[in-house]
Amino acid sequence: MLILGIETSCDETAAAVVEDGRRVLSSVVATQFESHAQYGGVVPEIAARRHLENLLPVLQGALDQAGVTLKDVDGLAVTQGPGLIGALVIGMAVAKVLSYTLKKPLAGVHHLQAHILAAFLTENPPALPLVALVVSGGHTNLYRVNSFLKMDLLGRSRDDAAGEAFDKVAKLMQLGYPGGVKVEALAARGNPAAFSLPRPRIATEPLTFSFSGLKTAVALQLKRHPEILADPGAQADLAASFQEAVVESLTSRAWLALKQTGLNRLVVCGGVAANGHLRQVLRDLAATAGTELFLPTLDLCGDNAAMVAALGFHLLAAGQRLDLDADVFSRG
Ligand code: KG4
Ligand code: ZN
Repeated sequence: MLILGIETSCDETAAAVVEDGRRVLSSVVATQFESHAQYGGVVPEIAARRHLENLLPVLQGALDQAGVTLKDVDGLAVTQGPGLIGALVIGMAVAKVLSYTLKKPLAGVHHLQAHILAAFLTENPPALPLVALVVSGGHTNLYRVNSFLKMDLLGRSRDDAAGEAFDKVAKLMQLGYPGGVKVEALAARGNPAAFSLPRPRIATEPLTFSFSGLKTAVALQLKRHPEILADPGAQADLAASFQEAVVESLTSRAWLALKQTGLNRLVVCGGVAANGHLRQVLRDLAATAGTELFLPTLDLCGDNAAMVAALGFHLLAAGQRLDLDADVFSRG
């Protein structure tokens, strides 16, 4: 079964063709970061306008790359939320028109749950159930994935998301946008033990994340010691210490969730899962603990439509079609 996926929840316009929720025939992503870089973050109105310009060429590109036409597609999948409303409605409008005119079923996909499916786009996908940690720009969520249709939220961030913390720290350190990759590159040259930064915990909610205090601690260091920004060594040390604190916060809760659920299978996905240091620490911990670890390939960590098509396949196979009057949602 061929599913055409569409993703426009934030600042990537993406389309993909995926077979049986597993085999990626094409995945095209048009990033907009150049349109937002001068503002230091995503501007919702600009994102929506770029989606409007990019979506049809991106869709055509995905069909061409897969060597198929719209007639060959068996169903459609579109991100319904969470995300920027103005951005989501562009993808939703196009998906509804295609579904209506082609008379093909449409699935409405939850963006964060779709990130988890990126780990299944491989020859050897994980078995279920498992624990999944979604680490993106807007969310840091831990799930118990019982099936593709039933994912229970175990924990989330009470304030900033991990990716947001990377972006804000990059801004504080004047590294530019998008921040994650820049902080990672700088951190690679630094000493992660150079600065002692907080790793906030809430005793009564051990699976809840919190990253705003960490960002504030970095801001305070820079306020007290502005000379750090002029010292490449100290700057790298601060970036490495920040990155280490994020990685420790993520991994400690992931393994606590495995312990609490009695599971031994972990997926870590979302934009921050592209971080090389995080991937290495996860692999080391998994090897020591004997945990089965599944990380999406780098190109499928960030936003893409292959993961949307993959989850859409399972929804449609279970008969979960989206009504054509259904709306997008910003939170959830
Ligand atoms: O999943 P994603 O592409 O979009 C959302 O759904 O939000 O995640 C984007 C986030 C951004 O905050 C970006 O800074 C972060 O992922 N990111 C990284 C890296 N690559 C992207 N964070 C740390 N290290 C990276 N290498
Ligand atoms: Zn995302």
